[in-house]
Amino acid sequence: MRTVSFLLALLWVALLNCIGQTPNRYTLVPRPAQLEPRPGEFVLGPGTTFLVPAGLPALKTVVDSFASQINRSTGLSMAVQTGTASPAAGTNQLVFITSRDTTLGSEGYRIDATDSRITVEATATNGFFYAVQTLYQLLPPAILGKPAVAGTGKPAWTIPACRIQDRPRYVYRGLHLDVSRHFFSVPFIKRYLDLMALHKFNTFHWHLTDDQGWRIEIKKYPKLTQVGAQRRETIVGHYDDYDPQVFDGQPYGGFYTQDQVREVVRYAAARHITVVPEIELPGHALAALAAYPELSCNPSSTYQPATKWGVFTDVFCPTETTFGFLQDVLTEVMSLFPGKYIHIGGDECPKDAWRKSTFCQQLIKREGLKNEHELQLYFINRIDKFVTAKGRRIIGWDEILEGNGPTTRLSPKATVMSWRGTKGGIQAARQQHDVVMTPGKFCYLDHYQGDPALEPTGFGDLLPLSLVYSYNPTPTELSPAEATHILGAQGNVWTEYIDTPEQAEYMVWPRAAALAEVVWTPLALKDYTDFSRRLPTHLARLSSLNVNYARTFFDATLSAQPTSDGKVQVTLTKNPLAPGELRYTVDGSIPSGESSRYEQPLVLDQSTTVRTATFQGSQPLSQLAKVQTEFLVSKATGKPYTLVSAPTTGRPDRNYSLTNGVVGGMGGYELANVVSFANDINLIIDLGTSQPVEGVRVGFVKYTAKNMCLPRQVEIAVSDDGKTFRPALTTKTNAAEGGKRAIVRLPFDFPPTTARYVRIIARTVGTVPAGLRNPGKAAQMAVDEIEVR
Ligand code: ACM
Repeated sequence: MRTVSFLLALLWVALLNCIGQTPNRYTLVPRPAQLEPRPGEFVLGPGTTFLVPAGLPALKTVVDSFASQINRSTGLSMAVQTGTASPAAGTNQLVFITSRDTTLGSEGYRIDATDSRITVEATATNGFFYAVQTLYQLLPPAILGKPAVAGTGKPAWTIPACRIQDRPRYVYRGLHLDVSRHFFSVPFIKRYLDLMALHKFNTFHWHLTDDQGWRIEIKKYPKLTQVGAQRRETIVGHYDDYDPQVFDGQPYGGFYTQDQVREVVRYAAARHITVVPEIELPGHALAALAAYPELSCNPSSTYQPATKWGVFTDVFCPTETTFGFLQDVLTEVMSLFPGKYIHIGGDECPKDAWRKSTFCQQLIKREGLKNEHELQLYFINRIDKFVTAKGRRIIGWDEILEGNGPTTRLSPKATVMSWRGTKGGIQAARQQHDVVMTPGKFCYLDHYQGDPALEPTGFGDLLPLSLVYSYNPTPTELSPAEATHILGAQGNVWTEYIDTPEQAEYMVWPRAAALAEVVWTPLALKDYTDFSRRLPTHLARLSSLNVNYARTFFDATLSAQPTSDGKVQVTLTKNPLAPGELRYTVDGSIPSGESSRYEQPLVLDQSTTVRTATFQGSQPLSQLAKVQTEFLVSKATGKPYTLVSAPTTGRPDRNYSLTNGVVGGMGGYELANVVSFANDINLIIDLGTSQPVEGVRVGFVKYTAKNMCLPRQVEIAVSDDGKTFRPALTTKTNAAEGGKRAIVRLPFDFPPTTARYVRIIARTVGTVPAGLRNPGKAAQMAVDEIEVR
């Protein structure tokens, strides 16, 4: 066996030598269904021509646009000719040929690249378009950029020889963008579509309306944009960052005119992307109600576009006025968007207003419905009936299955977008509904992609690149027949915490590149290690396009443990799938190509901020200023302690996390490395030997929106035997302190003394004080680290 592997290895090395390639000769994302490497390469030069069959204007457009981009970036002037290739002539040609091979499907293509000629075959324009995206990725990344500088920096414009036969795994390959929470300009949308096209996505789900802003001009209802597109101000930071919540005082708004919408739809179509517009109903309707309160169940109330995030109880009331309005809106929407699908939302519609409404209760009786959930289904089915009568189809979030039962049934023509996990998708597919999978765990690109302590504010949860990549949209629970209803998957980009184009790109790329492979590449070829090999070149493509992608893939992770002699040993771990090496600093400076190379764990004998970054040679691969972690070293480091009062988390705290030197995390969705307590904290640290002590510092979590308050009083005492304690300090602390959540390191200095044991009692305030978010609720305390001086 070993001999066989050895021979195989020899053969592989010989093959690589023979065709002069490194494995990084082919770095296509998404990975094609079949790629056969060949020796040699096709060189683009002044004599290269493109040959397109006559009478195919759509194909000519695709090739013209390809030729003009590569002429722009290479400085060459290659011509596109129309005609038929003769087998003999035409070396140094890229020949496009219409194929009748039905196994390619309409989106598939074949590329045969030799050193003298490239033949591209497809049955339809989409297939040619995807072949061109592949050709871009066979060329050096700079092909996608601005004109190359003349002279030495110019890469060789070559395409490595190969045979590729490719077609997508799924027909629906989507990316979504919420433009309600934050508005994104038409130029940004176009760029988004360009990037989607490069990754062979074919559906753009445009989330145009929500509580915080109505973003599409509707001629018949001008107030939708005059009133509904503007909000008074916007909450600052994460929903729970501040107590009380802080607002920026800045009016915020924006919308797309119908001309702009048509322009986007045309631009998308040229990239073989269908735009699916979403008009949210019956929930997430506050912006519409602000414009037209008569659409609510309390027409005499007034409403404002929401200034913070969440789910609101004021929703469309299922009156004939509302249905008339929605039908008018959808009529205009359908005239702007030629695609098959109209997304009608359907998610997160609280039933409070319907429950209280006499009209709704009568409607429930009149229609023989059981409850408000069936009323939601009635609402959805009425909209479905209207939309299907116009020859279109509705698609909605999985709540459109609400109320679906033996008596009332969701229209069989409705397509379900499964976002609350995969359950809705599975249920829908079993009932013969088509399904698009967008489960939050794998597809929500507004979630954190790395350590929340280091990342910009995300919505919550952790969705690293590798987890996106691991997703298989076809649930294994489904039979092959049921599985045919899984049309594909989509990445969702909710923008509560994404307020700039740069931040949107940071959240989307490269995770959407991983998703592109999820929806395009045959399951058997998906391989994260291989994706990781191709990723650096792919990121160079994104760099050519000036995309502000996240470099989190290159981030190191840090772990620490105290040593037996009271120091902290810090281990830096590079992503083993990433190239490069780690460099680090311990003086607070940002790492550079000259910083120390990480070779072995660092041993810290004082509190230190460690910064690290990944470099290839002196070239940074990761974001330089990003990975920085503070470690605390004090007389308490690594020392055992007794928790006289039991904690509620961290129990039984066997790893002594309060003296391990590792600070807690406040970033994002959960607290990390903290121990929390429902009652008073009472703990005794054993320093091992009697020694001079003069102060204690305790890191308390202040997160009052989650009922975590500072203590009301702290009592420090010291002892030589651990039994008899001498008071060192008793001091009041401000349990009513709100403001921005933080870990607050409160110092408690006392007259210098000598002791082996230090006791810390922190008294809980009991209930959350008045003036904070949840007054009267049971208060908790949490601590990340204790230092002794
Ligand atoms: C959703 O995330 N509310 C569909």
